[in-house]
Formats: sequence, C-alpha cells, structure tokens
Amino acid sequence: MPQPNLKLVTTKETAPAISLKGFQAWFGESCVVQDLTLELPANGVTCIVGPSGSGKSTLLRGINRINEDITGYSMKGQLFIQDSCAHTGFKDITELRAKVGMVFQRPCVFPCSIKDNVLFGVRDKSLNKLERAALVEESLKSAALWKEVSHRLDSPAHTLSLGQQQRLCIARTLAVKPEILLLDEPTASVDPASARALETLIKKLKDDYTIIMVTHDTRQTRRVADNVLFLCDGEVIEMGSCDHMFSKTAKQKTQTYLSEEFCDC
Ligand SMILES: Nc1ncnc2c1ncn2[C@@H]1O[C@H](COP(=O)(O)OP(=O)(O)O)[C@@H](O)[C@H]1O
Ligand SMILES: [Mg+2]
Repeated sequence: MPQPNLKLVTTKETAPAISLKGFQAWFGESCVVQDLTLELPANGVTCIVGPSGSGKSTLLRGINRINEDITGYSMKGQLFIQDSCAHTGFKDITELRAKVGMVFQRPCVFPCSIKDNVLFGVRDKSLNKLERAALVEESLKSAALWKEVSHRLDSPAHTLSLGQQQRLCIARTLAVKPEILLLDEPTASVDPASARALETLIKKLKDDYTIIMVTHDTRQTRRVADNVLFLCDGEVIEMGSCDHMFSKTAKQKTQTYLSEEFCDC
C-alpha cells in the first residue's frame, strides 16, 4: 500500500480539517475506496485528482455522508471532521452538513427565487427580515454574485446562467456558515469564462474555508491547489504540495498522470 506523501502546505497551525483512518467505501461487494489513512489540512485548497472511476466523488461524498443515502453503500474505518467523529460526534446529519457543505458538478438550484435559494438551508428561525436580507447579501457577495443579481433577488433562480447558478449554489452553501467546502468538479458544466470566475472565487474563499475539490483538469489543479491528492483505483498513489506533485515527485505514476492525464495503474 503506497503511503501518502506528507509534504503538505499548511497555512495555519490548526488540527487537520478531515482525518481518515483505514477508510474504505464499498458499493455492494466492490471496494471503490481502499483503506485510506490520511489527514487533509485546514484552510487552503486540496485537489483530489485521478482518472474517471478512481473513487474521487465517492471519497468526497463519503466525507459529508451523502453516500449513505445510496442503497448498497457501506463504509469501514473512521472519519473525523476536525476533532469530531463524523458518525458519533454530531447531533444529527444536518449539524454535520452545516459544518461541511457540498457543491456538485451540475448546479442544482431549487424552483424558487434567488433569495429563497440562498436561504434554503438556513435553519435559524430567530433571524428577522433584516437579518435574513443581510445574510442573503453577505452570502451572494462572498460567492461573487451580488453585483449581478442584487436588483433581481425575487427572480426565479433558473433564469440565471449555468455559471451564475453554480455561484448561487456556493452562496447557498456559504449561508449556513460551513467551515469546510467540498466541491465536486464545480467548473465542469460551465463555460470557460465562468470556470475562470469560479476558480478566482475558490482562490479567494480558501483564506476563510477549507476547500476540498475534485477536478479532472490538471491545469486547473496547478492554478488553484495548495495540496494534491492523487487517487487511482481507490488507492492513494501520492499526496503532497502542488509544487511537489508537479515538479519534484519521483513517482512515475504521478508524473505521467499530471503531465498527460493518463494513468495505467
Ligand atoms: N451508486 C453507485 N452504485 C454502484 N457503484 C458506484 C456508484 N457510484 C459510483 N460507483 C462506482 O464506484 C467507483 C468510483 O466512482 P466515482 O467515485 O464516481 O469515481 P470518480 O469520481 O473518480 O470518477 C466506480 O467504479 C463507479 O462505477
Ligand atoms: Mg466523480
């Protein structure tokens, strides 16, 4: 079993955001994420890369326990969010997902207004009208969407472009004040200009959030990642700082994948 490289970029002397100990993910009899023991640092962007089917999404979805809604899914091992066990350390799944928000490959806006989309996950009933309006503004500003939608907050969310919808999904996730953001190929279904805008946003958000992002785009990885985790066939081939993975690694598989997006393992 290859051991993850530990030369990671850490920006703060804080506990890891996510710790996996012997983590495995299964669909039926098939083990698709194999025995991962690693720590993902707090703050900054960790990109999870690897060929299609290597278990990137399953790992990401395992972290906020979305996989558990799928029939046939099971996991083994331990998963910690900061110091709390993901299975026993939270009051319920809503509390866990308030700390660990997720944005998917295809923007998933709800059939209501832009404003109501932002507030969708906000459970704090004590907020008055003014406070809710302030939260909408703050979340949309953080997601770099406010300027484009401030005059039409009551318009249906589906009238936005795909790139705007993806930023709305990010605003909705930020509105519940998470600490960790899981992004599964967040730019894959938007046009190149929107993808660049999202990358700029991700680089800005990383100062305040821990971002764990799946991408199959190695040029994007080079632009946004502080750390890179390379998965293949459900195993970690190598993990390290972006600089290490792109320029200094001695592992042939990492070199080949990051230069050619190809892996024969
Ligand atoms: N709902 C599911 N049921 C059964 N197998 C699944 C399911 N989702 C994913 N898999 C399998 O798990 C493996 C990893 O998939 P995934 O995590 O989506 O890979 P990646 O995101 O790296 O492309 C693949 O072999 C895929 O076919
Ligand atoms: Mg995937």
